[in-house]
Formats: sequence, C-alpha cells, structure tokens
Amino acid sequence: MTIGAGVIGHPVSHSFSPKLHGYWLKQYGIDGEYKAYDVAPENLSAFIGGVADRGMAGCNVTIPHKEAALKLVDVADDLAVAVGAVNTVVVENGKTIGTNTDVAGFYENIKPHLGNTGKAVVLGAGGAARAVVVALKQIGFSTVVITNRTREKAEAIAKSQALEVVSWEERGDVLSGADLLVNTTSLGLAGSEPLYISLERLPQTALVTDIVYKPLITPLLAAAQARGNHTVDGLGMLLHQAAPGFAAWFGVMPQVTEELRQHTLSL
Ligand code: ATR
Repeated sequence: MTIGAGVIGHPVSHSFSPKLHGYWLKQYGIDGEYKAYDVAPENLSAFIGGVADRGMAGCNVTIPHKEAALKLVDVADDLAVAVGAVNTVVVENGKTIGTNTDVAGFYENIKPHLGNTGKAVVLGAGGAARAVVVALKQIGFSTVVITNRTREKAEAIAKSQALEVVSWEERGDVLSGADLLVNTTSLGLAGSEPLYISLERLPQTALVTDIVYKPLITPLLAAAQARGNHTVDGLGMLLHQAAPGFAAWFGVMPQVTEELRQHTLSL
C-alpha cells in the first residue's frame, strides 16, 4: 500500500519539501507519495485532526501553521514544546505526535564543523532562532547571546532558555570571544536588505553559519570567509530537518549527500 505524507502550509506552492521527499522516495525505491496541501488557517484544526483518518503517515507543517499546530496535535514532544512550534507530525497508533526537526537540522548541519562550544551569538529572534537556541543548549554551549532588532522578542526567548540579551546596536561588539555566530534573521536573503555587522571582533577561529540559503553564500558568509573564518551555509539545515520525518513515515533514514545538495541547487 502506498504510504502517504505531505506538507501543509498557506500558501504552500513555494515549498521545496515535495521535491526533496520525492527525490528520496525515488532514490530508495519506496512506494510512497508526498503532496503539498494548501490549508487555510480556519481549516487547520480539521486537517490535523483528520491526518490519521486520511490514512496518512504524517506531515510537515510550514508557514504560517507551525505555532498553531503545537496545540492541535494529540501529543507535542519536548522539542516541539521547547521551540514553541511543530514542523513534523507523525501518526502513531492513530494519534498525531508533533515534533520539531529544525533543532536536529541545525545541529546536523554544523556538527562536522563545530569547534569549541564556549560562546555562541545568535542574530534574530523569530521562529528559526527558537530552534537554533534549543540546539545550542543541547550541544552544550556555556554562553548563548541573542540579539534582535525588536529586543522584546529576544527577551521572550531568553526567559525560557537562559540566554544573554544584548541590543541590536551592540551586535558587533558582542562577537569578542565567540566560537560560533549564527544568523537567523532574513537579512541577506536574495531581494531583502543586507545584514550589516562588523566582524572585526570575531575571533578567526569562530565558525559562522547562516540559515539563509538563497544565495548559498550570503554576504555574511562571504565576509567571514574573506577574513579566514570557517563557514557553513544554510542549505544543509533545510535538507537535514527533512530527514527525521522521512524516516518516521517511510522507514528509511535518508542521507544528505553532495549529490542531493547539487540536485537541490539545480531546481
Ligand atoms: P523566521 O521564522 O524564519 O525566523 P521571522 O519570525 O519572521 O522568521 O523572523 C525574522 C527575523 O529577522 C526576526 O528576528 C526579525 O527581527 P524583528 O523581530 O525585529 O522583526 C529579523 N529581521 C527581519 N528584517 C529585519 C531588518 N530589516 N533588520 C533587522 N532584523 C530584521
């Protein structure tokens, strides 16, 4: 029997997930399908409530439903609660279990490149920052500093995760002694404003990563590379966050390979 899964969003046509899961289904020869479902907010509750009845193994949840989905699944796991959002739903014994694989996606992407885990600096305090902060705490960074244009949003995350908050104006100053710098803002995304930050105080040994992957080498990553810092682009996070859902629904842990990266870039 064909195993069914998909992604729910609104709009959802931009979602890259059907192509990614389609690639893996073909690669592993699995009798499965992964569709995009455009679900308006007023229909979200009925859709998630009906995932098991439709015979689906589960689904991904994307913008703007990630936070709402947390309250609509039968069980939200600790990661989903810590992040405050569900991006993956798995049906187990007829019940919907909500988790958040952005945390593992971020970690898996930087894991091979991680050096010291003393101080990390996070730029931004949106949904992506929440997942990044949970990952940094899991990795065991002793100090995590967060800075955001809207300070209150950084303070809200800091309350639940024990972080240091600094003002957006001080984002360059706080880089002294950092082992890791993460951009989680949308700045640097093709067509949006650039990210202005002085890297002067950032140690050359620090790893720099960006969750923006269009362009693959953001101006931040280019600036970091030019001064000798090691960098990791954001494409891997997108690919790695998809893997646990695929494994849960279709029974095979898919690999994130260089070939897949190239395939993704060609789409
Ligand atoms: P996501 O869920 O992808 O993290 P988001 O919740 O919309 O998206 O968050 C976008 C992040 O980019 C926020 O930290 C936002 O800062 P604010 O909280 O102050 O809005 C940040 N951001 C977007 N445009 C920005 C800009 N022009 N200058 C500084 N930060 C910006």
